[in-house]
Amino acid sequence: MSKPTLPSSASSMPNWQRDAQDHLWMPYCQMKTASSPLPVVATQGMHLILDDGRRLIDGMGSWWTACHGYNHPHIAAAVTQQLSVMPHVMMGGIQHPQAALLATRLAALLPGDLQHVFFCDSGSVAVEVAMKMAVQFYLNRGCGNRHRFVSFRNAYHGDTTGAMSLCDPVTSMHAHFKGFLLEQYPQALPHTEEDFAVFEAFVREHSDSLAGIVIEPLIQGAGGMKFHQLNTLRGLREVCDRHDVLFIADEIATGFGRTGSMFACQAADVVPDIICLGKALTGGTMSFAATAATNRVFEAFYDDNASHALMHGPTFMGNPLACAAANASLDLFESEPRLQQARALESLLQQELQPCAALDSVVEVRARGAVGVVQVKTLDRIPQIIAAGVQRGIWIRPFKDMVYVTPPLNMPHDIARQLCCTIVDVLSDWDADRLPTEASL
Ligand SMILES: Cc1ncc(COP(=O)(O)O)c(C=O)c1O
Repeated sequence: MSKPTLPSSASSMPNWQRDAQDHLWMPYCQMKTASSPLPVVATQGMHLILDDGRRLIDGMGSWWTACHGYNHPHIAAAVTQQLSVMPHVMMGGIQHPQAALLATRLAALLPGDLQHVFFCDSGSVAVEVAMKMAVQFYLNRGCGNRHRFVSFRNAYHGDTTGAMSLCDPVTSMHAHFKGFLLEQYPQALPHTEEDFAVFEAFVREHSDSLAGIVIEPLIQGAGGMKFHQLNTLRGLREVCDRHDVLFIADEIATGFGRTGSMFACQAADVVPDIICLGKALTGGTMSFAATAATNRVFEAFYDDNASHALMHGPTFMGNPLACAAANASLDLFESEPRLQQARALESLLQQELQPCAALDSVVEVRARGAVGVVQVKTLDRIPQIIAAGVQRGIWIRPFKDMVYVTPPLNMPHDIARQLCCTIVDVLSDWDADRLPTEASL
């Protein structure tokens, strides 16, 4: 395999990996002890391309974002064209066609009357905006005490302080910020009738101080890839209705086809009051997010009273390049069978990862849409698992107590099978303690 050509600025840095070690502060890792990061210089289709020319099948889809695979020519063309016309313009007092088109298309795609789209720059900020909208929804209606949220065990909603306060207070990586964070009402996610009775009693008791219930619909992602049933979502919606509490769906990970429908809430016929979108919004090309609200929520802000306005406005909100990428990504959802592809991947992942279930250390194999999970009793030697994957041609990044994949929704089945077979191989060696102790990539 020939070595890929680097952009000129990077090719003038022959020692870029050493320089990175000195200056790049990496996410979610102890810099002192972490293994060397993977040197990726290009992406193509379903693959990451390494500095030495090796190509890895990407099992991660760059954290759920690359829903059409990498470097899709339709998105690249749209962004390139927009770059020459208007890379950015502020949105304070200005509107532009790409943002108008995207907001209109999202409003048409979203369930119910989620008609009002507020753009922002990352998923965590979309969650902050949703929280602020919910609190101010009640403030504007004269209920000043409603500033707390019910969130759920195993929840993950982002890394900014408001979003952190919604994460699982015990098992999440943000647990040691307790005291610094806003206090919320973390609850067990109700599944059965009895669970719901307990849950509803809690909501009834606290409804005077509650602004919203926040949920990652169908799949709780970074908190453990936990799946729940459609009825749980329906039940939560009903509890919200009975106690006049806003239902906030964080579809940052699940949105745009990941679970097999465009938005996970649609599978349950549930319309949230507020929905957060991000990740795959731009088809995996750049950071962008949105918070959309129903007419009822919007109307609580729409007033002659200036203080009822939503005072929020990230500098890069509605960035035209990001809007162009998102519009091009929506074109692909229209012209290609992405949702069917996600649903077909569900059966493939379930079937092809299933041999892992026979391993002593494995508790369960599960799949929903284009998410496959091998749940283990205790996950150890993570760097060795990652390295074995890389040496055998795949990129996976296990965490907590699982090995999981979130590949592009359009991953061809032969490649998806190769990904799964390699995971089965690596985990068999891990289970039998046959992985080399050296975690070299
Ligand atoms: C459900 C959910 N909400 C919010 C976020 C935060 O998004 P971002 O990383 O873009 O801030 C994430 C990121 O993984 C997520 O999975």
